[in-house]
Amino acid sequence: MKNINIIHFSDIHCGTIEKEDPPLEQKTPFYPENLADLVQGPRRFKKISKSLIEQFRNGLNNIILISGDLTTYGKIENYELFLKYLRKRIPSEFFEKDSNFGVFIVPGNHDIDENKIDSGDLHPKFMPIINSLKKHGFYPIPCKNATNKKIEKESCSVLLVLLNSCIGCREIQYFPRDLQPYIQDYFDKESNRNPKFPLFNRFDTPFISEESIEDISRYISEQDTSLPIIIAHHNLLPPHNTEISIFSEMLNGGKLRDVLKSFNKPILFLHGHIHEDQVEIIQSPFYPNSKIICISAPMLFPNKEDKLGTIFGFNVIQIVFSDEGNILGCEIIFYRLDKNLMPFKTRIRFIIPPESGFYLLEEDREILKFITSSSTDKIYLKDINKFLNEGNIDENIYGNIEKILDKLDWLNLVKYDKDGFKSRSIVIPGRYVQRVIK
Ligand SMILES: [Fe+2]
Repeated sequence: MKNINIIHFSDIHCGTIEKEDPPLEQKTPFYPENLADLVQGPRRFKKISKSLIEQFRNGLNNIILISGDLTTYGKIENYELFLKYLRKRIPSEFFEKDSNFGVFIVPGNHDIDENKIDSGDLHPKFMPIINSLKKHGFYPIPCKNATNKKIEKESCSVLLVLLNSCIGCREIQYFPRDLQPYIQDYFDKESNRNPKFPLFNRFDTPFISEESIEDISRYISEQDTSLPIIIAHHNLLPPHNTEISIFSEMLNGGKLRDVLKSFNKPILFLHGHIHEDQVEIIQSPFYPNSKIICISAPMLFPNKEDKLGTIFGFNVIQIVFSDEGNILGCEIIFYRLDKNLMPFKTRIRFIIPPESGFYLLEEDREILKFITSSSTDKIYLKDINKFLNEGNIDENIYGNIEKILDKLDWLNLVKYDKDGFKSRSIVIPGRYVQRVIK
């Protein structure tokens, strides 16, 4: 089997946080460079950053995805610190053009310079992040349009689609026209009284442009065999924590969900924003092979004010393919700090059913049929070898049989016990076999 592995993290929130910030969306006041000077921060931070840097450098991962909120206030000095930090720690092959590696970033609602809002032009409020990424050699963020990048490794491929869900953030023009004067008046009064007026932070208005929705349809239709992986800052489904906000959800999230379901195939949707680590699946009875797997990365680092029990960390998502390049599923590995801030990891696996277009080969099916039709509760490798060779053993095909059994085991179709010598390796027929033979 083959893998394309993705490191996904989010919501770093570089920059200083003010005490009057609303408690509903907790943010970290730390950025990596100053953590070493803090009494409580460094020990906590280093545990997760050490694991993250190991993942950058272990040679097993191809893609790094950061789903927004790099900063808290969208200031260029905060991007500078964070991006310099990343450049120092991420190996150079991730930044080479036309390589099978890459670092991809989408903006969050905090990655906006509130002093540069121009109701007629979308770009100025994103200029600090656009300019900083360019200066340090990072791939550009999407703006009004979605962007895409196909990553290929041997015979496997994934299609990354980058979305900007923050084009409406911090702008009053996206509120109902008749309410705008009242909101503006209230906002002006409160801003004069309290320059850090928190209501402004709630003007998130998350949505994606019509152009982006058309782009997604085009990109996915054109790349029929690659697994689509969409990355955005905002969530498609509501978070666990109650949020009191004028627009707490993506305004056209329902439309986006419908578009994604209509492809009738598995799609990953990776996001941040909610500071939680939900993994949820959206399916539709009208599109039986649709499976939108929504994966949220939590905040990367603890804020010293965060309570124990808050979730921190990052995800590694392994996209698993057969040797022929057919997708089998994905495994999500959660690197987290527990309630005592000790690092741990756990994982879940999603198998993509063969009927959704990703199939088993003829030989896989033949072997599976032989195993599942067996009346005994265990089969040795030599039994399969004999079955394939009309009663004789062919020493040369053991390697191939084992590859197929690895695949069937990963798909949870058989239990393959690899302990012991090759000839003694055991296959247990049937799904969900509880018994483990040593
Ligand atoms: Fe955030």
